[in-house]
Amino acid sequence: MKRLEVKQLDISYGKKQIVFDVDFSLEESQIGCLLGPSGCGKTTALRAIAGFEKPTKGEIVLNGQKLNGSKTFVEPEKRHIGMVFQDIALFPHLSVVDNLQFGIRSWPRPQRDKRSGELLELVSMSQFEKTFPHELSGGQQQRIALARAIAPKPSLLLMDEPFSSLDVELREQLAREVRLILKQEKMSAILVTHDQDEAFAMGDYICVMHQGRVQQTDTAYNLYHNPANRFVGEFIGEGALLPGVIADTDTITTDLGEITGHLMESFKHGDTVDVLIRPENVIVAGANDNQAVITARYFRGSGYLYTLKTSGGAELLCLIPGSGGLQIDQSIGVRLQIDLPVVFKRPSPGTF
Ligand SMILES: Nc1ncnc2c1ncn2[C@@H]1O[C@H](COP(=O)(O)OP(=O)(O)OP(=O)(O)O)[C@@H](O)[C@H]1O
Ligand SMILES: [Mg+2]
Repeated sequence: MKRLEVKQLDISYGKKQIVFDVDFSLEESQIGCLLGPSGCGKTTALRAIAGFEKPTKGEIVLNGQKLNGSKTFVEPEKRHIGMVFQDIALFPHLSVVDNLQFGIRSWPRPQRDKRSGELLELVSMSQFEKTFPHELSGGQQQRIALARAIAPKPSLLLMDEPFSSLDVELREQLAREVRLILKQEKMSAILVTHDQDEAFAMGDYICVMHQGRVQQTDTAYNLYHNPANRFVGEFIGEGALLPGVIADTDTITTDLGEITGHLMESFKHGDTVDVLIRPENVIVAGANDNQAVITARYFRGSGYLYTLKTSGGAELLCLIPGSGGLQIDQSIGVRLQIDLPVVFKRPSPGTF
């Protein structure tokens, strides 16, 4: 049996529909992420699972129990769902251990102490048992908020941008840590985020949303290497779209020469397309190769990321490791190295 099933969910605020036909499911001990730009409906979908919004259509089933439907609505407090939100909501007047025990205060003392002790160890915060929230860093507070949410062993944990108030460097690290903690607890969870590094660090799978609809539900690897559509291709990872024309069943003609490789979709000769070019697909080559001009460069620690302009005016990104000897306005020879081209048909003018 699946832990959670979300089936064809529609959600509206008043007359305005926000979430359209959202569908995904979660296995036991699995971590799913809802990833998408601001305003795409992630929080709205999560609030419906928690029971704070009533969907206009669709079903939410947790552990085989239907939580909503034409005649059903299970109140939020009866859903046995834990939650962690962006703004850390620890009780300021309670110590760490009392915060942790808040959701299990009806448990007998020995079990309660055992559980909070276990959790403090799990989040590496044992020495802070007697500390008050204001004496903790943001990351430490968020670890305690997480431990508090999972203390009653909920059927499902929902996290809405739990790391967004933290430094960028800390975010990804904490996302990895939290993943390990949830796996040890065998906790099924959903993370909502607009930060793909966080989603990649945490999720077993990721559901990419755009304008209230699921675009693709897949592993991070597949989202990057095999995006289902143009939106996912541009939203996930870095890259650019290079215009081309289909010359053959496995050949595309572009400004930078021919790209060959098996095409996932079938196109016909003469179709105009865009090919997704990742920075690692662009290789600096010799003077006899197709030329491109460097228009910008960004320091990336281990190397430089360059923006290039092809003779036909297309922009590409190129990642070159090392200390970087290339200058802006310099013309360089480039070659494309692509195993499986990701190709999107170009919408013809006047269509949407
Ligand atoms: N209570 C509300 N009443 C009316 N409209 C709302 C309400 N809450 C959210 N919306 C609208 O619904 C849309 C989706 O909002 P939601 O908060 O789900 O987005 P999100 O994907 O979580 O974005 P973010 O990444 O910025 O948190 C937005 O256009 C927002 O303006
Ligand atoms: Mg949100």
